[in-house]
Amino acid sequence: MARGKFIVFEGTDGSGKTTQMKLLGAYLRERGVATHLTHEPTASPYGTLLRSCMAGKTDADEHVIALLFAADRIDHIQNAENGMKQLLEQGVTVLCDRYYFSSFAYNGGFVPLEWVVELNRPAMEMLRPDLVIYLDVSPEDAMARIAQRGERERYEDLARQKLIREKYFEVFARFRAQENIVVVKNEAAPEATQAKLRKLCDDLFGGNA
Ligand code: TYD
Repeated sequence: MARGKFIVFEGTDGSGKTTQMKLLGAYLRERGVATHLTHEPTASPYGTLLRSCMAGKTDADEHVIALLFAADRIDHIQNAENGMKQLLEQGVTVLCDRYYFSSFAYNGGFVPLEWVVELNRPAMEMLRPDLVIYLDVSPEDAMARIAQRGERERYEDLARQKLIREKYFEVFARFRAQENIVVVKNEAAPEATQAKLRKLCDDLFGGNA
């Protein structure tokens, strides 16, 4: 059986990646592609602890957060029950909201990037995405979307959003040779963005999606 495709969505907070990922999942399923949608931080005990840190309910140093994200990711790949690696081997295509580039862009801005890269080296070796889609919005537009959502989390202010976006582009340039990264401008009309993503997927599946 053909291995499923592993497609990762990246972007700053409020980039619209969750909406776009859901639309793309529906598109693939309509085409008969077995598709699983997932996200990081995950719903596992590691991810649950992380969410509590992100929401400020559990006090945590940035080093602890970076370590927890790396741990959550390895569990997400390897877990015997619902791990991504196993699903891909079973022929399921996996769409994942955030992966190691989120750690580089977010956590690598607060603790040394080299250390975060080392923490994520096992994940990079275990499971590399077939495609990384970066949904690009201006930090101002991202903040406007976050404001609409109400509650603010740990990394959500304009200056930080700018830094995180810059960090994404820095690491994309660094890992360009070994990763398949596509930067997609998120258009005001969600359908326009979705059309670009569908085209990318059609190409990835060689016209067989
Ligand atoms: P997420 O639930 O995807 O938030 P959003 O829907 O706003 O994109 O991610 C929660 C937060 O976790 C987000 O601010 C980014 C941060 N994060 C990291 O700092 N490092 C990581 O490795 C990951 C996966 C997420």
